[in-house]
Amino acid sequence: MNKAIILAGGQGKRMKADMPKPLFKVLGEPMLEWVISACEKAGISDICVVKGFKGEMIDEYLGGRYTTVLQAERLGTGHAVMQAVPFLENDSEGNTLVLCGDAPFIDAETISSALKLHEEQRNAVTVITAELDAPKGYGRVIRNESGISGIVEEKDATDEQKAVKEVNSGAYWFDTKQLIALLGKITNENAQKEYYLTDTVSLALADGQNAGAFKSENPDIIKGANDRRDLLELNTYARMQVIDKHLENGVSFICTDGVVIERNVEIANGTEILPNTMIKGNTKIGSGCVIGPNTVIENCTVGNNVTVNAAQAYDSVIGDNANVGPYAHIRPDCNIGKGAKVGDFVEVKNSNIGEKTLISHLAYVGDSDIGKKANIGAGAVTVNFDGVAKSRCVIGDYSFVGSNASLIAPVKLGKGVYTAAGTTVTKDVPDYALAIDRGVMKINEGYTLRKLRPKSK
Ligand code: UD1
Ligand code: CA
Repeated sequence: MNKAIILAGGQGKRMKADMPKPLFKVLGEPMLEWVISACEKAGISDICVVKGFKGEMIDEYLGGRYTTVLQAERLGTGHAVMQAVPFLENDSEGNTLVLCGDAPFIDAETISSALKLHEEQRNAVTVITAELDAPKGYGRVIRNESGISGIVEEKDATDEQKAVKEVNSGAYWFDTKQLIALLGKITNENAQKEYYLTDTVSLALADGQNAGAFKSENPDIIKGANDRRDLLELNTYARMQVIDKHLENGVSFICTDGVVIERNVEIANGTEILPNTMIKGNTKIGSGCVIGPNTVIENCTVGNNVTVNAAQAYDSVIGDNANVGPYAHIRPDCNIGKGAKVGDFVEVKNSNIGEKTLISHLAYVGDSDIGKKANIGAGAVTVNFDGVAKSRCVIGDYSFVGSNASLIAPVKLGKGVYTAAGTTVTKDVPDYALAIDRGVMKINEGYTLRKLRPKSK
């Protein structure tokens, strides 16, 4: 069966952080995850990640999803792959893909097309290459009349070789059995005293086997990051690629400043995204919505014709025609009904809000189930936490919770209940009743004049 090895041993010193480079994020996901998802999309799930610097962080991130092996010393890309020989020997039928964990834009299409060429040509190794205007730093692909003859690293290259613009992407297909044999022949006799995986090309040819190159049409697949500046560039590139996909699908942007949409987000046509808006995770947004400005939405399902203005929403469902914001916060596990309003300075958490229910201003609704067409007044609060435990409030359909009312959970209001403004609701209220809890207001006439009158001597 075909399998993959992902090289993720690098530290990335120039990142100036105590973290393996492949864990740095592009559009919210570690570069390693981009590479893994390209493998998975190409149908390769048997993956071994070679870890090195802070390898435990790679294990922690992967959470047991894939095999990992440790490269204790960083002696080159060939040495890194040698660490995975037991993984290769588990099942040495078929082919092995080798990828770099810090080049996130390799894609399933390139992987599959290169495999096709690799199999057609019966190669021991097929290098994925690209033409770069600025090839500096990359291994150069050396060709002769009969095909490729080898890969030469920048540090080992002659001036003539340095002029070559076709470079090694760092991604390869190998015949697994041949790879195991070739790894045994790599030496470190070169400028960097490293075991170069790239030497497998000339070694295979010397052994009378085939070696080939698959040149990608898209040179961007080889982009990687050495420092934070490069990482910003990768983010900018990915961000614009994603925005471009949505433009193609009929999503509008009047200005893309501050717009960051992660790659798994789905947005239907006719929706408009306004500036300074981040849409993250597995968010799905329907059509005819206006999202932003100044908004964050993460892992939400948003219906059609919804407005979310200057608000944040996480791990929740927002129904068709709902209005959220400005300055609203929908915390995880909410279900906002169709046509409902979560207005200015309203926070909602772990709650179900019924259809057309209005929470227009200055309210906190936590751990609550509110029916349809209810009205929650300004300053109303569900008091869901007694300092030890959280409890729920239930508010029936058509209820009207007055301004500044506090509902002390657990408490249940029936259908069509009114609670007077300022009422502290401490017990259940039956359908169609009014709950009122208020001192008698007194008027003390002339009070101010008496208070301020000068004292007589
Ligand atoms: C390598 C290739 C070069 C190619 C370039 C593409 C070799 C000898 N050269 O160069 O031809 O153009 O990639 O980016 O392979 N790694 C380890 N352990 C090591 C060394 C590297 O795990 O001992 C990992 C790194 O973390 C990285 C990948 O292998 O993910 C590539 O290593 P890097 O040092 O970036 O390779 P280059 O020398 O730049
Ligand atoms: Ca290097």
